[in-house]
Amino acid sequence: MNICVVGLQWGDEGKGKVVDILAEKNDIVVRYGGGANAGHTVVIGDKKFALHLLPSGAVRPNTVCVIANGVVVDPEVLLTEIDSLSQKGISLQGRFFISENAHVVLDYHKAEDRLREESLGKNKIGTTIRGIGPCYSDKVGRSFAVRMADLVNIEKLKDKLENIVAYKNKIFAALYNAQPINAADIYEKCKVYSQKLSQYVCDTTAYLHEQIDGGRNILFEGAQGALLDLDHGTFPFVTSSNASSLGVGPGCGVPVQMINNFIGVVKAYTTRVGAGPFPSELENETGQYIRDKGHEYGTTTGRPRRCGWFDAMVVKYAARIGGINELAMMHLDTLAGLDEVKIGYTIDGKEIKMFPSNIDKLSKVQCVFKTLKGFGEDLSEVDSFEKLPAMAKEYVKAVEDAVGLPVTIIGVGPSRKQTIFRK
Ligand code: GDP
Ligand code: IMO
Ligand code: MG
Repeated sequence: MNICVVGLQWGDEGKGKVVDILAEKNDIVVRYGGGANAGHTVVIGDKKFALHLLPSGAVRPNTVCVIANGVVVDPEVLLTEIDSLSQKGISLQGRFFISENAHVVLDYHKAEDRLREESLGKNKIGTTIRGIGPCYSDKVGRSFAVRMADLVNIEKLKDKLENIVAYKNKIFAALYNAQPINAADIYEKCKVYSQKLSQYVCDTTAYLHEQIDGGRNILFEGAQGALLDLDHGTFPFVTSSNASSLGVGPGCGVPVQMINNFIGVVKAYTTRVGAGPFPSELENETGQYIRDKGHEYGTTTGRPRRCGWFDAMVVKYAARIGGINELAMMHLDTLAGLDEVKIGYTIDGKEIKMFPSNIDKLSKVQCVFKTLKGFGEDLSEVDSFEKLPAMAKEYVKAVEDAVGLPVTIIGVGPSRKQTIFRK
């Protein structure tokens, strides 16, 4: 049984928690896209892990972790993550593989991300400044790309880096009047990355297919969310990869036909970090209530997340393009305590069949709301669907009806045990 877990909103839906829970019954967890822009939180007892590059299966001592071709790897972040796990007594030795084809994020990518955002002023995208866009641009452009295989063949990288950095410096000086970057410094860093990371680098596509043939269960962990997908999200306020489940095939070389179940993770409301349209946004006290109660501050950048009601059209669209079979709804507990809760439906004067990802069309739509009575009680200790207050059950049912998919997992708190399974 191979499962893909993806976000169906604008990221931070709680994918880390869902993947961690499902990983108990899977052998291998694969990250197939995005990079250190992701921040996936796993809470085990009183320990909290925030993972940016390592798959969320990393916290389980026997789970194999794979970073596949589609990921852009920042070696500095990865090494910090490996060290911090090792300080907590968790070793990745013998159970961690990185694709030789995965691209590498280097200092000049992060510099370019920052300089470009600064130069855009109020028109900025609000990126995480993790060098994601510039690294994927180099990947698509090909001539100046550095891959994990180049770190392994470190001798050959010296000349290549000199060329790349000379080119980047011309652009940085001409466009941003920025200080030049030193190729020798970057090469020295790459030597360290090579020495520490080469042991993990291999052909992960061949590895994954061998494991599938051997009957292993694989869990594919999406990063970001469908509405941040480069081709299907609210462009240009998106990330630079196919963050919906559509990215899984190209991202790791395993065709969707080999994946048995696609689980879409949603929050019981909606959040978004950075700029871009958000039809059901609450720029009022209720939005602040959700932000405070749900601790809605970015795992990667610490920025306050924008909060709004659950938008059924957004999730229906994301589920449709992603071939989603079932929903995991996190943060139901966060809505508890509100007098009323709402489910948003984007409309364009009249009902629309599909959420428009085109932002010009989106600027013309409005969000209408179905209002339900709130559920006052604290949900954090509820351990079965039957024990939920009647109105909380009604809310889940209303989401199922609006999206047309069953909610099979419900989150009532950040920890593993605060999870209700309905299957
Ligand atoms: P991801 O990027 O999709 O993995 O999500 P993040 O980890 O960035 O953000 C989700 C946040 O919500 C984290 O702080 C989680 O610990 C927390 N969380 C996950 N599920 C629940 C839930 O059901 N209730 C509450 N209160 N917190 C949750
Ligand atoms: P996880 O995996 C939420 C957002 C950024 C910005 C836009 C582009 O934790 O759900 P980028 O740095 O990718 O060029 O930024 O995408 N973004 C995320 N928002 N969760 C994420 O990841 C995100 N990764 C990128 O805030 O709006
Ligand atoms: Mg996150």
